[in-house]
Amino acid sequence: MATIIDGRAFAADLRARVGEAVAGLAARGVRPGLAVALVGDDPASGVYVRNKGKQTRAAGMNSFEHKLPADTGQDELLALVARLNADPQVHGILVQLPLPAHIDEAKVINAIRVDKDVDGFHFENVGRLSVGAEALPPCTPAGCLLLLRHQLGDLTGRHAVVIGRSNIVGKPVAQLLLRAHCTVTIAHSRTRDLPVVCRAADILVAAVGVPQLVKGDWVRPGATVIDVGINRVAAADLDAAGDAAGASGDAGASGDAGASGDAKPAGGATRLVGDVDFAAAQQVAGAITPVPGGVGPMTIACLLRNTLLAACRIHGIEAPAGL
Ligand code: GUN
Repeated sequence: MATIIDGRAFAADLRARVGEAVAGLAARGVRPGLAVALVGDDPASGVYVRNKGKQTRAAGMNSFEHKLPADTGQDELLALVARLNADPQVHGILVQLPLPAHIDEAKVINAIRVDKDVDGFHFENVGRLSVGAEALPPCTPAGCLLLLRHQLGDLTGRHAVVIGRSNIVGKPVAQLLLRAHCTVTIAHSRTRDLPVVCRAADILVAAVGVPQLVKGDWVRPGATVIDVGINRVAAADLDAAGDAAGASGDAGASGDAGASGDAKPAGGATRLVGDVDFAAAQQVAGAITPVPGGVGPMTIACLLRNTLLAACRIHGIEAPAGL
């Protein structure tokens, strides 16, 4: 039976360490601030943003929430980003994705000041990550790496297979694994012989957004499985979910579902499941993250960490050790 990797406990510990470092900064007159902009009324995004606000305040930071209607124009959103860029109380800026279709996501992300880009999505930060320069890492991928290092220590030479090629998770997690000296394979919904590819993995990261896609016999005995998927499925459909979902492409996002709850659709019993068939995979894997309570809680914890690091950098303060 696999070791269950407790992301909830790890994230709580990380948030506590960030909180201590924030208290240390107060003595130097610096209080880190995170601004989040949410356009529209997507219920799941609304829950994520509320949780971000709560946890930001709990860590002793300022939280600024900007909720804008779904018909907000691109220029109006760009004007808000410009104000936040110039605001000395704001050290981190996050524009919640996805944005409504009439707004050019890349244009908005690239309008964020590079040193306040706590999502790590600005093209300059993406480039910096890929060439190994200093950059704030995207939060969910950073959370995956922290869990892997905690579980395995040095990752050098291990074969990591990432299923999913989204800009939010798949590609940046592959970059971080490469920086950690893994041999990295990026697979996706069109990869041929996906089970065979997965069975070669010492580390298997599933970030494809297909409920329970990864079966037990896709997992190499003793492998470490990181399940980034957060899929809400009807409880009754659960057995058929993996087949029914098909190749829906690559999941972009993850958030902190789990204990803090995500938006539940009305009517019918539902359950959160990952991209991995957990019951089967835990019989084979050496260690595995559950859903909920695995990677999900790490995302906001890493966002707080990035906000703290951004505040330190902006004020020319050395980053606290041990984060
Ligand atoms: N939507 C889902 N996950 C994320 C994230 O990590 N950052 C942003 N900006 N939007 C998201």
